Amino acid sequence: MDQAAGMRHGPIGLRLVRSRDARALQHELLANRSWLQPWEATVPYGAVSFDMRLSIRRLLQQYRDGGGYPFVMEYEGEVAGQLNVWGVARGSLCSATIGYWVSERFAGKGITPTAVALATDACFAEYGLHRMEICIRPENAASLRVVQKLGFRYEGLRRRYIHIDGDWRDHYAFALTREDVPQGVLARWLNGQVPPDAATVPPSDRLTL
Ligand SMILES: CC(C)(COP(=O)(O)OP(=O)(O)OC[C@H]1O[C@@H](n2cnc3c(N)ncnc32)[C@H](O)[C@@H]1OP(=O)(O)O)[C@@H](O)C(=O)NCCC(=O)NCCS
Repeated sequence: MDQAAGMRHGPIGLRLVRSRDARALQHELLANRSWLQPWEATVPYGAVSFDMRLSIRRLLQQYRDGGGYPFVMEYEGEVAGQLNVWGVARGSLCSATIGYWVSERFAGKGITPTAVALATDACFAEYGLHRMEICIRPENAASLRVVQKLGFRYEGLRRRYIHIDGDWRDHYAFALTREDVPQGVLARWLNGQVPPDAATVPPSDRLTL
C-alpha cells in the first residue's frame, strides 16, 4: 500500500497524516474537548500539548524511524479523526498497538471499525507485523463496540496501565494475530464471519463501574 495515498472502503479513507493536516486536526481537537478528554492519553508529568504541528512532526519522525504508522481517517474526503499504529516492536514480537478517535459529528458511521480493519490488514499483509493490540478503558462502551464488531480477542485486564485523562487507568487488552484472520479483518467482518464472543470480557474481569 502506498501509505501516503492510503486505503479506502466506500466513503471511508485511511492515509498517512500530513503536515498540512495540522490546522484541521487542531480545530477538531479543540472543538471536541468534552467528547475526547475522558479517553485522551496524558503524561504523568507536565501538560498535554495541543500543538498539532509539533505532534505531527513527531509522529512522522517515528514513522520514518519505523516506530509507527500515523494515519488520519477521512469520511467523504473530510478529516474525521486519527488512527495511530504505535509501539511497533520488530524482532521476535512483530507487534503494535492501535489508538483512535473521531470527532463527535462523525461518530456512529462505522468509520473507526472500517479504518481499524484496513490498518490491521495492511499491518499483517504489507508491514510484516504479526500481532495487533487495542487497549480500552472498561468505561468506554463506544470503543468496546469497535473491537466487538471486528472480533478482536479479549486478552486480559491491565491494572493502571495507561495514563489517560490525568491518571493511570485500568484497561482491557484485545488483540488479533495474523493466524486469526487468514481472510483479512475487513473481509471477515463484511462477510459476517466474526466470532460473536471473541471480545467478551469474562465475569471475573468485569469491573464495577
Ligand atoms: C470510540 C470511537 C472511536 C468509535 O468510533 P466510531 O467511528 O463512532 O465507531 P462506530 O461507528 O462503529 O460506533 C461505535 C459505537 O459508538 C456508539 N455511538 C454511535 N454514535 C454515537 C454518538 N453520536 N455518540 C456517542 N456514541 C455513539 C454506538 O454504541 C456505536 O455502536 P453501534 O454501532 O453498535 O451502535 C468514537 O466514539 C470516539 O472517537 N470516541 C472518543 C475517543 C475515544 O474513545 N477513543 C478510543 C479510545 S480507546
